Amino acid sequence: MQRMTVNIPGRGSRYEFLVKPGALRDLGTYVREVAPHGTAMLAVDERIADSHGAVARDSLVSAEYHLQTHTLAADERHKTLDTVRAMYDAMLAAGMERGSPVIALGGGVIGDVAGFAAATYMRGVPLVQVPTTLLAMVDAAIGGKTGVNLPLPSGSLGKNLIGAFWQPRVVVADPDTLLTLDDRELRCGLAECIKHGVIADRSLLSFIYDNLPAIMQREAKTLTELVARSAAVKVAIVQADEREAGLRALLNLGHTFGHVIEPLPELNLKHGEAVAIGLCAAGHTAVLTGRLNLSQADEIERVISIVGLPTRLPTPVESGPLIAAMAYDKKVAGGRVRLVLPTSDGSAELVDDAPRDAVAAAWAHVGAIDA
Ligand code: GLY
Repeated sequence: MQRMTVNIPGRGSRYEFLVKPGALRDLGTYVREVAPHGTAMLAVDERIADSHGAVARDSLVSAEYHLQTHTLAADERHKTLDTVRAMYDAMLAAGMERGSPVIALGGGVIGDVAGFAAATYMRGVPLVQVPTTLLAMVDAAIGGKTGVNLPLPSGSLGKNLIGAFWQPRVVVADPDTLLTLDDRELRCGLAECIKHGVIADRSLLSFIYDNLPAIMQREAKTLTELVARSAAVKVAIVQADEREAGLRALLNLGHTFGHVIEPLPELNLKHGEAVAIGLCAAGHTAVLTGRLNLSQADEIERVISIVGLPTRLPTPVESGPLIAAMAYDKKVAGGRVRLVLPTSDGSAELVDDAPRDAVAAAWAHVGAIDA
């Protein structure tokens, strides 16, 4: 088992992040340590309700929780206030009170929706995050971001426009749950691990490179180390900057590029795949602006590629609209495109003045075309 303490000083919040193969079977014990109450709600991705959900349920019932199970659809289109409203109704019907914990079992969408319901029901009830995807284990479940989309009249998703910071009481990551995660999703989680490596621990890149067969075979010891090392980067960042006043924005590395290609239907990219291409574009922008050596950018692309993630757009798209769309990314500060770029000292920095030419060249580097 690997265990880390997350300290959020401004809030007096302190909780454990546990990584342990088989931890799901002991979930009831972990929850009881942090939220000893009679009633609890297990909010679970409908696709794993009968598998991991059943294990979690047995453990929570053995720990003498009067348990209500609520299943959720794990897609961005259902990540809305209507879904949260249905969860409030179920919480009320179950007799949930101020001390009754919500246990979020699933990937990032489940953690976001159930976390937001927990943050707002009766002004906040205890939350336990039990991530079952690699992405959620190393990123979404840590740091207290919860929320839902607010679909916009334009038809766009309005991603995470409604939300709250609500730190969990404990995060329990069981690498055995990754046995049922498909390879494409596992690779998408690896994109976030690579991102963390680029931001703060470049030796994590060689760890992934050297251990890829064991990772893809879901070897428990290797996954435990991968999750712990990658999560450690996120933990250090959210401890220093819970509210994203500065440092936490580094976690958007690859995302400003990635967000504009992720919704394009012709590319059919998952989030992690768009981020992988975004990391390559950010790396190239960093080379062109003198922040990163070419060999370091190549190293980042090499690990992305060996993992089986895309380093280039699967089909060419025009760069003009991509550059224009970046200006509408919600991370825009004062109308300027704010980029996170990797640096040659093994970290990354927030850059407000990346030249448009360098951004255009970065899009060309990953396969966009000039119309
Ligand atoms: N996933 C980015 C953050 O938690 O800040």
